[in-house]
Parts: sequence; C-alpha cells; structure tokens
Amino acid sequence: MMAALAWTKLQSVHRYFGHNNLLKACFRYSQKHEDLCILSKCNNRIIQPVNVFYTRRSTVRYGAGTIDSRNYSTSASRKRQLVLGIETSCDDTGASVVDDQGVVLGEALNTQQKVHLMHGGIIPPVACRLHAENIEEVVNTSLKRSGVSLEEIDAVAVTVKPGLPLSLSVGTEYGKQLALNARKPFIPIHHMEAHALTVRMVEQIEFPFLVLLVSGGHSLLVLAHSVDRWSIIGQSIDDAPGEALDKGARRLKLRNIPECSSMSGGQAIEHLAKEGNPRAYDFPTPMWKYRDCTFSFAGLKHALLKLITKLEEEFEVEGGNIIPPIRDVCASYQYAITKHLVRQTQRAMVYNDIRGLLPKENLKLVLSGGVACNNYIRSALQKLCETTGYQLLCPPPKLCTDNGIMIAWNGMERWKAQSGVIYDEEAIKDINIQAKCPIGVDLTEDVRSLGIKIQKWVKFR
Ligand code: KG4
Ligand code: ZN
Repeated sequence: MMAALAWTKLQSVHRYFGHNNLLKACFRYSQKHEDLCILSKCNNRIIQPVNVFYTRRSTVRYGAGTIDSRNYSTSASRKRQLVLGIETSCDDTGASVVDDQGVVLGEALNTQQKVHLMHGGIIPPVACRLHAENIEEVVNTSLKRSGVSLEEIDAVAVTVKPGLPLSLSVGTEYGKQLALNARKPFIPIHHMEAHALTVRMVEQIEFPFLVLLVSGGHSLLVLAHSVDRWSIIGQSIDDAPGEALDKGARRLKLRNIPECSSMSGGQAIEHLAKEGNPRAYDFPTPMWKYRDCTFSFAGLKHALLKLITKLEEEFEVEGGNIIPPIRDVCASYQYAITKHLVRQTQRAMVYNDIRGLLPKENLKLVLSGGVACNNYIRSALQKLCETTGYQLLCPPPKLCTDNGIMIAWNGMERWKAQSGVIYDEEAIKDINIQAKCPIGVDLTEDVRSLGIKIQKWVKFR
C-alpha cells in the first residue's frame, strides 16, 4: 500500500519536475520513512516501476523493503534473470541479489571498519578470519531478504581480483563451492570494474565513458568501452588517495576526536576540513614534471607527516593530543589531494579529445570508489566537468564504498553480455584469485608521448 502510494507520487514528480527532482524527492521520502529508502533510475520519458529498488536502513545498509519487490517485475511473460554477488576483496563482506533491470532484491553487508580502526590499519589475517566467520550468514541473509532460493538464481558472481589475497580467497572459495553445489554458472569479477559499472544500475549511461576510480587501494583513470573492454589512461605509481587519507588521519590521531572515532580516515578528514582553510598550508604538486595522467600520493602523505611533526613541536602537543590547527591541516591536505585528482582528470579529458576516444556530443565522467563519497572532491570535479562540457555521474555514496550490490550488478552486466561466464565445472574449480590485475590495456605511454601541456588549469574552491 505504502509503496503503491509512493509510486504514484514519484511518477507525478517525474512527469512534472524531471529526473533530478525525482531523485531529490526519493531521498526526501527515504529520510521521512526510516525503514524504506527508494532510489530510482529512469529513461527520459517514463520511469519503469521495475527500475525502482528498495533499501532498508538497518545494521546492513541495504535490503529488500517490507514490500516484496517482486511485485514490480516487468511482465509475467518474461522470466526475470537474477545474479547473486559476493564481495570479500578487502574489509567488507557483502552479498546481494540483483535482477536484470537493476532491482536490488536484497543485500547484506558486514563491515570490519571498527575492528581495523582499533588495530590502526587492516591486518590481512584478521580480515580473512572475519570474512570466514561472516560469509555464510551474509550470503544467507541476502538470499533471505531477496525472497529467492539459490535454485532461482541464474549465476553466482564473485570478486576474484584485485585485492588482499587472504580476503579474496574466502569469497572466491565460498562462491565456487556454492556455484558447484547448486550447479550454477560462475562469473569472476574484477573489483574495479564493478566500482566503474555501478553507476549504470542507477543511471541511463551508455558506453563509452571516462571513469575516475578512487578508493583505499586504487587511483585509476580509465575509459570504459564496453563491459569487457577497458583502457587505462593513468594510475597511481604509489599510494591510493584513500590510503593517503587513512594514513594521514591515523597520524593526525583523528580517532581521538569523539565525533570522528568511528569514521574512516577519508570521512574524518572531510568532516574536519569543512571548517578549515584549504589554503592555510602549502603542499607540493605531485608529478608536475610529467605531462601524463599518472597519480602519486606518497609525496603528499610524507609532506603531511612532516607538517604534523613540525606543528606538534610548535604547539608542544604530546601523546594522544591533537594539534590546534587540525581543521586547517585537514582542509589543506584534502585540497592538495583534490587538486591532483582534478588536474590529472583534466589532462585525461584533453587526451580523449586529441585521440577522439569519446563522442563529443555525449561526454561523461563517472566518479566511483570509496573516496568518491567525498563531497568536496565531487564538487571540484563537477566544476571541472562544467568547464569542459562533461556530465559528471556518481553512484549514491552508499554504493561507492565496497558492497555486494556492485558485484551482483557487474555479474548481471556480464551475464546479459554472456561475457566471462563460466559454465564448466572443472573450469570453475580452476579459478584462482589475483592480488593484482590491470583492468585493461595501459595507454600511459601514449598519453606521455603527446606531452600534453594544459593552457589553463580549472580552478575550484
Ligand atoms: O572502495 P572502498 O570502500 O574500498 C577499497 O576498495 O579500497 O574505499 C575505501 C576508502 C577508504 O580509504 C576511505 O577512507 C575512503 O574510501 N573514504 C573516503 C570517504 N569515505 C570513504 N575518502 C574521502 N572522503 C570520504 N567521505
Ligand atoms: Zn573498492
């Protein structure tokens, strides 16, 4: 009943006020009704009911709503395709069932963030043990919430690369066994590909498009040509931005600030930076000598560590105490990281233009990965896109950090394209995890060979 009423309202919002306002209305609705949060995607004219998915706010971030989402199936005549996705590449154990229209039937997520915050970083054997302890319950809960049995699933998709080997092994071995026992096809998933494709679940976006993937383990500028064809335009030669934020936050002892105690490093820095001056401290510009799209965050991290030591001496700060200009330091560090991301993305856009890699009338930049939750980074990239004629697209923050939904959706994309689906039992048994694995062909040398000089850097505040 509640869903039917909401649905009628949403249709009229969409008809009269357009897509963006519809999304805003959805979020407002979700704030009013704590138990039910609706996200939507639509084509330009009419929203398909099947494209609405329900998420419940509870200990797990997503789950089927109180109303059976199967009521919204496309038509009785066509069998709906379903993929079960499993994620264990780092410190989140996630599982979800997604259908071919992007409806999330159910999801479960067990995040290890608090444990790792206590240890001051991820300890791989600890992460592995926690995955092993939780995976069965997470998968069963996601199936239960979806209201479907394993028999009704068409394929099992699992993150097998890249990531922490011990963590990847838990999901991969569990998923393989599940697929073999239930006689289902297995779809091996590349974690970064999943981050990059998530947006296609909630937005109408066709290939090709440019993607900036920023997480705790990666910093990548890639071109998405199709579900299984990617080109790397630039990537980090050392730390990832999330890593630089997490290590910086640890050294700044942000966990000792009560309001930040349960936040990830990136979240805590964004939170404190809101009231700081981004120009208070200068940081070096990484990679300024090289006219390519390569990232490097280690230099910024070391500059921050030096600055903290200097400020601790200056303010005579000892033990677990915090330096007084903490907000200015966070704002300046966040600004330096953002500037590097914006500049390399700007050069990637010029490269695409020179090589004619994207259709000029339909330029799109997708921002994804855990660091894409950061609103300051989002708005700086929005400014870049406004200046360069691109449209910026980001998945909702809860789909930017690791989760099972993105793996299930990537599985569904591959299932629909019948690309990388493994049917043979022996071939499933032979699947191995890969700690490192490039997402596609590396074009870094080609970018560098052009020596692209930027006439005017896009400015943001
Ligand atoms: O994608 P993700 O969940 O896991 C990896 O695949 O690495 O990304 C986690 C990273 C962490 O480094 C965390 O500090 C960062 O995303 N992160 C943020 C924010 N929320 C999470 N970074 C900046 N601002 C945020 N609001
Ligand atoms: Zn990730």
